[in-house]
Amino acid sequence: MTLVCAACDRSFGADARRPLPFRCDCPPGPQDRVLTPTPTLPAPGWRPADDAQPFAAWRALLTSHAEALAHGLGDAWFVDRVRALDAAVVSVDGAGFRQTPCAPLDLIEGAQVFAKDETGHVAGSHKARHLFGILLHLEVDEALGRRPPGGRLAIASCGNAALAAAVLARATKRSLTVFIPPDAHAAVVSRLEALGVEIEICRRRAGEVGDPCYRRFLEALDAGAVPFCCQGTANGLTLEGGKTLAWEMARALDGRAIDHLVVQVGGGALGSSLILGLREAVALGLLPRMPSVHVVQTTGAAPLARAIDRVRARAEGSGLGRAGIGQALRHAAAHKADYMWPWEQPSQSLATGILDDETHDWWRLCEGVLETGGQSVIVTEATLIEARARAHLVGVRASHTGAAGLAGALSLCRDGVIPTGARIAVVLSGVER
Ligand SMILES: Cc1ncc(COP(=O)(O)O)c(C=O)c1O
Ligand SMILES: [Zn+2]
Repeated sequence: MTLVCAACDRSFGADARRPLPFRCDCPPGPQDRVLTPTPTLPAPGWRPADDAQPFAAWRALLTSHAEALAHGLGDAWFVDRVRALDAAVVSVDGAGFRQTPCAPLDLIEGAQVFAKDETGHVAGSHKARHLFGILLHLEVDEALGRRPPGGRLAIASCGNAALAAAVLARATKRSLTVFIPPDAHAAVVSRLEALGVEIEICRRRAGEVGDPCYRRFLEALDAGAVPFCCQGTANGLTLEGGKTLAWEMARALDGRAIDHLVVQVGGGALGSSLILGLREAVALGLLPRMPSVHVVQTTGAAPLARAIDRVRARAEGSGLGRAGIGQALRHAAAHKADYMWPWEQPSQSLATGILDDETHDWWRLCEGVLETGGQSVIVTEATLIEARARAHLVGVRASHTGAAGLAGALSLCRDGVIPTGARIAVVLSGVER
């Protein structure tokens, strides 16, 4: 099991003395240096352990588990750590990690919508999954003596991710700095304060483009902080925990296929993790085939939609048919600046959690959408309001952000892109606060 760099193709792993890196150290160029967790998959027919705790159930697919086994810590040690960390999370947040429901809910007439409900999960969203995956790597590294314990963690976020990070940091008695914008929700700030994290409010410096919180976060990393974040570009290991969502989805479908996955996109780690995880589920025979992947942003900020349009235009302009998609994607991977840059207009939407002005994990989403025949959807505020209301009607208290994938599915059904009778998967996350 290894991490593979998207820019230089180098793999990392299996070195007992060196921890897996968070980012590749190849020279910065016009490419993203995302390290993708790439497990050696068990033979088809393998099934997860019968365990409610996702990281125990699916541990055979985790690079942290592989590292623990490769360097002599053992399976029992790993499971023990998962249970101990989970118990600590329960003591802070009231409940621990559980494989969450993914059941057909009456959300769109004429379609069968399988909704993965993350609103009741640790800290009210799926974000804690990304971070628990990183935490397991830190535990392995510290147990092997290849990373000093007690390093400061850092995250930039305005809401769900910050709360998840704060819960996990408190549970494991680790110090955490959270970089938040001046207009962060008061309820979020007071919960962060109660959890005892260091809060840095980030104002835009004169002439600065891009997200000031993310910039301060990167400065903290340069000063030695551990990226305890939900952006694969800053820490590829974050994509690993997110994959548990996809594996669980596939398992809940019990051998049936889904036709469409419609996912809301902010920084892009959620969607990227789902694509990686679903591909692995297909390879393992847990899912018959990949669904068409559709990505959802709002009129407030849609940098990924712009990037996908550009990749598609290049593919079509090549006159190569399907082969043109691969070529355009390769071009995009090596020329990020031509495809992805911060959204210029001031962004506003009810779905505040997906207003990221840059889709950090953009490339895998372009690939996932274009290779599966999916679409990029920009939803209106009215559709967001409707989607949230529909989720609440079936008893899921998702926020506008957390219901944005459903809003995208509604739009695609209305536009006839998703036909009547289709089977659709969405993630409802981010409980309303
Ligand atoms: C509830 C919820 N859903 C989806 C997302 C989007 O995830 P990502 O930023 O990984 O694209 C977020 C991110 O903030 C969120 O809070
Ligand atoms: Zn590299």
